[in-house]
Order: sequence, then C-alpha cells, then structure tokens
Amino acid sequence: MIRKLLSVAAVGLSALALTGETRAQNYPSRSITIIVPFAAGGPTDIIARIIAQQITTSLGQTAVVENVVGAAGTTGMVRAARATPDGYTLLLAGMSTMSFSPTLYPNLPAHAINSLEPIGIVASAPIVLVAGKDVPGKTVKEFADYVKANGDKVSNGNAGVGSSSHLACSLLNSRMGAKPQIVPYRGTGPAMTDIVSGQIQYMCDQTTSVMAQVQGGGARALAVLASKRSAALPNVPTIAEAGFPGTEMEIWNALFAPKGTPPEIIKTLNAAVVKGIQDPAARTRFAELGAEAPGPDRQSAAALAKILAADVDKWGKVIKEAGIQPIN
Ligand code: MLT
Repeated sequence: MIRKLLSVAAVGLSALALTGETRAQNYPSRSITIIVPFAAGGPTDIIARIIAQQITTSLGQTAVVENVVGAAGTTGMVRAARATPDGYTLLLAGMSTMSFSPTLYPNLPAHAINSLEPIGIVASAPIVLVAGKDVPGKTVKEFADYVKANGDKVSNGNAGVGSSSHLACSLLNSRMGAKPQIVPYRGTGPAMTDIVSGQIQYMCDQTTSVMAQVQGGGARALAVLASKRSAALPNVPTIAEAGFPGTEMEIWNALFAPKGTPPEIIKTLNAAVVKGIQDPAARTRFAELGAEAPGPDRQSAAALAKILAADVDKWGKVIKEAGIQPIN
C-alpha cells in the first residue's frame, strides 16, 4: 500500500515538474505585468517604461506597467511578492524600496531578499538636490541658509518614509541643520509638478525625473549627491564640492520576480534585460536622463543579489544611526 502511494506521489511530482518545464519553455505566451511601486512620471516609472518596451520587443509579448503605489513602494513590493511565480507578474523597484524596507518595515508580509528573485539591474542614477526656479540660493550653502532661516515655511517633498527621496534629503537636511516641513507624495513625479508650480520648494530626486524640468527652466539643480559629477549635468557640483560631503546616494533600479519563479524564466528575463539595456535607443535615453546601464559585472541576477544584500546591510546601518522611523 505504502509503495503504491509513493509511486502515485512520484508520478504526481514528475507531472508537476513537467508542467513547470513546459510553462518555462513556452514563456512568455501572454502579456507580462511590471508592477511599479511609485506614481507615474517618477524615476522608477520612467525606467520601467523603457525596459517594458525593450522586453516587449525582445520577447514578443507586451510588457505592461502597472503603478501600485503606497508606503514608499512597499505596497507594490508586497503585491509582486504575493503574485503567482510564473513570470507574468514582475516588479521594477529601486534601491530604496528594496534596501531600506527590511530595516524600516521588518514586519511586512514580504521581504526584499527572501520573497523576491532578482532578475537584473536596468539602470542607475544619482540623486540631485532640486529646487523651484524662484527658491533663493545660488549655491547649496546659500540655499541651506535660506532653509534654516525659514524653518517649516519651506517645504521639502518626498515619496514617503523609506523612499530614496526621503532618506537622501533627511541626511542632507540634518547636515545643513535645516528643519523644513516634510511633504510626502505617492512618488516624486507628482512632487516635481508641485516644485514647478511653487507649492513646495525642494526635493532630492534621481536625475531621471528631474532632467526635463531642469533643462526646461521649471526647476534648478543645486548639487548632485554623488562622488562624481553627472555627465547630464556637467555644471552642477557634487554635494562634496558644494560643502556637504557624506550625503551621497546612487540608486539602481532593477527587475525582480516573485520567489519560486522557475530559473529558466529568470534566465529568459535577464537575457531580455541585458539585451534591452544595450539597445542604442535605450542607451541614448539613459544618457539624456543622467542614468547609466550596468557594466558587464553588474548585469547578472547573481550580481544583483549580491548588490542588494550589501545595500540592505549598508543602508540598514545608516537608517539606524540616523534614527529614521516609519510613520504609522
Ligand atoms: C524614491 O525612492 O524616492 C522613488 O524612486 C520615487 C519614485 O520613483 O517616484
């Protein structure tokens, strides 16, 4: 009887494995959804739409972006982690959501490392201190004096506690000795609209979503929070040159799948990402946005897993030292 039961179980298991294999071989046979955990028009969304187009071309099925916003990207991250691990629901998330959430939100039902499979980095971009065109201060020092003197009459936008726009400006505000009013948004796309209209005064956001307004004159880039100047903003000083070192932050944006997604599917998707980021049209767009595709040593899923683990560790320490707390 036991032998019979065991052989029935074995047949069941190999049938399951076969179904998984067949699914992986036929992948993708329908459209793919890429969850973006922030609002449209922000840096995560912009990079997601570029890679969605490349995946569509490469795999012959439409990749659609779905913005699932809230809680500094963790709502979308949890949604993706809970999706069926079949390669049809993916997550395009930034360094912030993935690296800060294990420290800031340890009780989330999904964990950046344990609940998702890394696929590959799409692009990285530095953070820029960006202010409205009429906000006083030509240099960061003059700007810091203005923010300090005006306290909470000055508003600093971000994409929620645990976003890069929040952490970068929190570190900078404390280095500047400034205590502005903090205004959270569902992504920095809508926050930028309010900077341009003068509703809020400044923000720390990736070059990706500030370039258009900076070039069009709707906003001013005061400093790049990176160790080197951005090729897209060659006249803008680094934050160390501007007198506030120690607040550098570079953001990678990468593709993930729910844990348990078959390795063959991860391989197919990684190949599509690597091919996509080499496409001249994507390269040109990245350059215009001040973003950079990863070099060969940062393109694999394993490289992303290593980078993520290192960033969870690094930023976990920064968050604890800075005493940053989530607002519940
Ligand atoms: C952030 O971490 O601040 C996000 O990248 C914002 C966004 O994508 O809108």
